Amino acid sequence: MKRIVSPSILSADFGNLERDTLMLNRSKAEWVHIDVMDGVFVPNISFGFPVLKAVTKVSTKVIDTHLMIVDPIRYVEQFAKAGSDYVTFHYEAAEDVTACIDAIHAAGAKAGISIKPATDVSVLEPYIDSIDMVLIMSVEPGFGGQSFIANSLDKVRELKAMIAAHNTECIIEIDGGVSADNASQVYSAGVDVIVAGSAVFCAEDPEAEIVKILEA
Ligand code: DX5
Ligand code: ZN
Repeated sequence: MKRIVSPSILSADFGNLERDTLMLNRSKAEWVHIDVMDGVFVPNISFGFPVLKAVTKVSTKVIDTHLMIVDPIRYVEQFAKAGSDYVTFHYEAAEDVTACIDAIHAAGAKAGISIKPATDVSVLEPYIDSIDMVLIMSVEPGFGGQSFIANSLDKVRELKAMIAAHNTECIIEIDGGVSADNASQVYSAGVDVIVAGSAVFCAEDPEAEIVKILEA
């Protein structure tokens, strides 16, 4: 299976966003993770369209947008059209999950659903044939730099079995508390894409750290 790393620019230096985006362009990371927080779904506010556009203007990578916002249907189309290749919304935040998936696809992007640590993988079953990705949160969404919640890998294995049973192409991403120290276990459990924020941007050599995660 192919390993992908998606560095989260939440941990980048916003005063040097172009520099950090160019660093990612040179790196072995194939994706860039964009964490959008509204201060309502999560107790933190990050950034919105202007920052996304500043990244897409410079980035040559797959843009992986993670919406931690209430009522995602109001914004999914706009995030897709602003240059996201993947738009992922939270199951817990969506009133009509199918409508969100359809709106993302209609806008030309790939659709992902994310679940928080307390949400059961089984809630995804009705949608697994129509989505491109599931994002398992391995920390409570809201902040970078938290510790990995261990039972997240059980959820990955359960999801992997569900995807196999449905014989679909859906990929698995994990987000929160992943570094070169636990990346090997995470990929072995069946994860395709690792999001890494602080592990990459707090490293002395972020490009080398990305390679360490990929080769863990
Ligand atoms: C948390 C965000 C994550 C965060 C991960 O709500 O969704 O993407 O940036 O940061 P680390 O890798 O530092 O746990
Ligand atoms: Zn995220």
